[in-house]
Amino acid sequence: QPGNDFEAEDAAIAQGIVESNHAGFSGRGFVNYDNVTGSHVEWTVNGPGAVDLIFRYANGTTINRPMDIAVNGTVVSAGLAFNGTGAWTTWQTVTVKATLAAGANKIRASATTANGGPNTDKLTV
Ligand code: GCU
Ligand code: CA
Repeated sequence: QPGNDFEAEDAAIAQGIVESNHAGFSGRGFVNYDNVTGSHVEWTVNGPGAVDLIFRYANGTTINRPMDIAVNGTVVSAGLAFNGTGAWTTWQTVTVKATLAAGANKIRASATTANGGPNTDKLTV
């Protein structure tokens, strides 16, 4: 598996903004999810294949910021935990396995609580 990086700031963002005020991100910045249920980032990744979806994030609170992970509209991991990382400048990864279809796949990470998602740096596939 090649391990290609897909920056969140280059993905489709709904209810979030690109920021760069917390160090340690890759690329030009990260997505600061609006602190609302349903805020999301959607990446387009080519398949096919059985892959690891590796989300790099920071959560400077002590409260989990769970997200639903969907591939082409089907939730493959509901309420995946994005636990506190200790600081907004401390970035960690969460991995989930998925199977991609041939061609373009839409991978969406959607906040499931009113706290929104964690600050999200990139998806590695
Ligand atoms: C702070 C932090 C943001 C973060 C936000 C949050 O404002 O600077 O980067 O997104 O908290 O709680 O979601
Ligand atoms: Ca936020």
